[in-house]
Amino acid sequence: MSKEETVESGKPFLVGNKKDLIETKRTSITVGERVLLIIHHEGVFYALDQHCYHAGGSLLNGDIEELDNRLCIVCPKHKYKISLKNGEGIYNATNPKEKDKPPCWKSKGIKQRVHKVTEVDGKVFLTLSETPGWIESDYYQSEKGRADLKLEMDLETNKSAKS
Ligand code: FES
Repeated sequence: MSKEETVESGKPFLVGNKKDLIETKRTSITVGERVLLIIHHEGVFYALDQHCYHAGGSLLNGDIEELDNRLCIVCPKHKYKISLKNGEGIYNATNPKEKDKPPCWKSKGIKQRVHKVTEVDGKVFLTLSETPGWIESDYYQSEKGRADLKLEMDLETNKSAKS
């Protein structure tokens, strides 16, 4: 799905029918040059940048797990965990000096930009995030980030063509 027309910052725009988006469960949408992922999981819609903040992996097919009372998507590429609600990166930490203590979940802070989803009369609308400042997943919206991503994807395509 692609949204070519200009999307006004802070204004909701129509993504599609709720019924269709529930059926597909995961929808990839390109708005301008930003690739977004809309997920319907257990009755709730979530939207976030589709390229993982770590190295641009696609979150489209990431597993969803509840970790430390946070619903997270697990990036298929290197298994980073990202909160669906707010884009926090979380990790399971162990202190090598306290080997007898069990690992515990810690936050790296907000790493992935999440967007707002609203529902009105069976239709789903998206409002792009206006959180100011740099969020790491923004990198893949930059010219250099997109070029890096393309290079990576070309390498993977060449690798699989050779095998
Ligand atoms: S690209 Fe997502 S964990 Fe590395």
